[in-house]
Amino acid sequence: MCGIVGYVGNRNAGEVIFQGLKRLEYRGYDSCGIASIDRELKVKKDVGMIDEIEAKHGLSGIRGSVGIGHTRWATHGGVTKANAHPHLDCSREIAVVHNGIISNHEELRAKLEARGHVFASETDTEVVPHLIEEYYTSSLEEAVRSALAEIEGTYALLVISTREPEKIVAARRESPLVLGVGEGEMFVASDIFSFLKHTRRALPLDDGEYAVITPRSYVVKDLATGKEKHKEVISVEWSDEEARKDGYPHFMLKEIHEQPHTVASALNIYHEDVAKLAEMIASAERVYITGAGTSLHAAMVAEYWFASLAEKVVIAIDSSELKNKGVVDENTLVVGITQSGETYDTLAALRYAKQHHGSTAAIVNVIGSTATRMVDHVLMQGSGIEIAVCATKTYTSQLTLLLRVALELAERRGRDVSRLKGELRSLPEKLSGVLALEPEIKRVAEEHFDVKNYLFIGKGINHPTALEGALKLKEISYLHAEGMSSGLLKHGTISLIDKDMHTVAFVPAHGENRKRIMSNIQEVKAREGKVIAIASGESVACDACITIEECSEELSPILFAPVFQLLAYYVALKLGRNVDKPRALAKSVTVE
Ligand code: G6P
Repeated sequence: MCGIVGYVGNRNAGEVIFQGLKRLEYRGYDSCGIASIDRELKVKKDVGMIDEIEAKHGLSGIRGSVGIGHTRWATHGGVTKANAHPHLDCSREIAVVHNGIISNHEELRAKLEARGHVFASETDTEVVPHLIEEYYTSSLEEAVRSALAEIEGTYALLVISTREPEKIVAARRESPLVLGVGEGEMFVASDIFSFLKHTRRALPLDDGEYAVITPRSYVVKDLATGKEKHKEVISVEWSDEEARKDGYPHFMLKEIHEQPHTVASALNIYHEDVAKLAEMIASAERVYITGAGTSLHAAMVAEYWFASLAEKVVIAIDSSELKNKGVVDENTLVVGITQSGETYDTLAALRYAKQHHGSTAAIVNVIGSTATRMVDHVLMQGSGIEIAVCATKTYTSQLTLLLRVALELAERRGRDVSRLKGELRSLPEKLSGVLALEPEIKRVAEEHFDVKNYLFIGKGINHPTALEGALKLKEISYLHAEGMSSGLLKHGTISLIDKDMHTVAFVPAHGENRKRIMSNIQEVKAREGKVIAIASGESVACDACITIEECSEELSPILFAPVFQLLAYYVALKLGRNVDKPRALAKSVTVE
């Protein structure tokens, strides 16, 4: 999980790469650096956020028309200037940036040191420039290929050399890498957002491929055979405008407010694509629906929809555990839910499914991402760029699509779901109504921010809502929050309740689950715990209650989402946290 960007062309590479890195900062931000060729290799790097390093070292001012940059989220080696990328060879002719993990780096390092190479960092990456140096006679491309043949692990790599100054060699194995094709200039980066301002023409590399790019040309080849591959350039429709804040103080707030619009987009995704996934689910004997973080919570909500609406058992499973718990064969379908399409664990789960002859599908937001290219069927969520590390609008879009699939399956099985389908159509409007409660939610957050421990409880389909509510709060406020089904509370956790414990309870408008959670609320109150209710329809008497318009219980996970998202946002803001870039987190976790 790091971000990389490279540029060759007529502009000042430093400026282009600096702007690109700022776009990639969501992928890691403990240190960053740029290398460019201006006759000799120039390198600027340090520990800290990109803007801090820019202010200190003038990253963007680095001269040259070819360069590579990196924003780091440390895996091997502490957060130090020496460990920041780019890394160089001994002769300072070759520079490398890398996203991924080189698993045999210790062995390679020992071998290289024995041959006299001197290392400047503790990173796994530094073996790469030294290994290339070993093989470099006249062709950087060949030297990179030979070096990569010895490397085990995962990578997206960019390499430049002063001996071939108008060129970048880029290679990929299990970490994302996309070329941007401009007019007389070329870009290469971990995602398309970093060059969207300059070109909309993108060419994603696949695993086991490398590219050689110069200002006016690119060629993609197979790493193993060295044979050229024909690849289609795709046209990206997202505008650069979409990636800006639009006057909001934070991307997170902007993205929360986009939900009526993004959910409307999810409602407009082609019926054929939705129906195809429903068909795949119907015909599979065993279905796993898998993801990480917020995407896992979306999968968990879907588990309830498939069971209650379509009487189909699908199992929601943490993608990092699929290999341990899943039973996959040719009658199994694995559906990956992944906003970025790049989460290592989710891709690994999909790969595992393919290896075991299962079918695969995915719900993905990022166009051209790895997941979209590896599964049998992909449903694009069309939520637009999500920049804040914490997922908000992409969660409600995933839910909307999953509900559409469950409703489709229910209809195929002869169930009458017309009422819910009607309600679903009014979701964008209902979400606008929920967002109008923002001043009230802000007030509640400001009254309840000075709290050490939070519990989030929900029943039935709002059990995952409780998990996601707790995740949002801890991700950006750093307060301790635990989510659970309200039924589980009395089996241990209730002993923690006292006047300092705050419990957020999700209360549906009617039905059995409303009654049950109301009695759980009483249990908390009886132990002097504070309760914040997030209720649908009728409000609940407790320390604070945020009441949204009445809706059916099935839709409530989507409509409760903006409430706990805004609650987390305003608590974090009150605590002075870096809302869009919380410490230690990255938007896209591309390592195991
Ligand atoms: C990281 C992010 C989470 C996200 C998860 C899954 O942990 O910090 O916000 O939910 O990855 O990401 P994906 O892109 O696969 O949905």
